[in-house]
Amino acid sequence: PVLSSPCRGRGFRRHVRLALSAGLDARGFLFGPPLALRLGVGFVPVRKKGKLPGPTETASYALEYGQAELEIQRDAVEPGKKVVLVDDLLATGGTMRAACELMKRLKAEVLECLVVIELLSLKGAEKLLPFHCHSLLQYD
Ligand code: PRP
Ligand code: MG
Repeated sequence: PVLSSPCRGRGFRRHVRLALSAGLDARGFLFGPPLALRLGVGFVPVRKKGKLPGPTETASYALEYGQAELEIQRDAVEPGKKVVLVDDLLATGGTMRAACELMKRLKAEVLECLVVIELLSLKGAEKLLPFHCHSLLQYD
């Protein structure tokens, strides 16, 4: 499928061949799979630590109190594959940034981070740069 993605600040839309929708544990699992079905691409779960079998990559991120970790199976995404990351909410951006880090380690190309809601005052999108975040709803 061809994904049309608004490219902020460049004034054009790029058209690319998407390979995978990757959903973030747990509420990204509500939105990632329907997107994958709609686009006819595969779905990859990015899970909280200790849930996935076999060899995994792990990235840690900060919570309000302490740290958490996300994991992906090492063979879940082939190098060079184009991926969109999907979650319900972008707050501080720590969770999504950890997911971007996992994709980088697998040498996948993150086309865009997609969320339903973005909390603008927390400036999570800045933390994701150079990756771009697209949100459907924004709140201050
Ligand atoms: C919530 C939300 C996002 C994340 C956003 O997940 O679903 O994944 O926080 O926060 P951040 O941008 O500050 O990292 P949570 O960790 O509560 O887990 P859940 O999805 O399993 O409810
Ligand atoms: Mg979550």
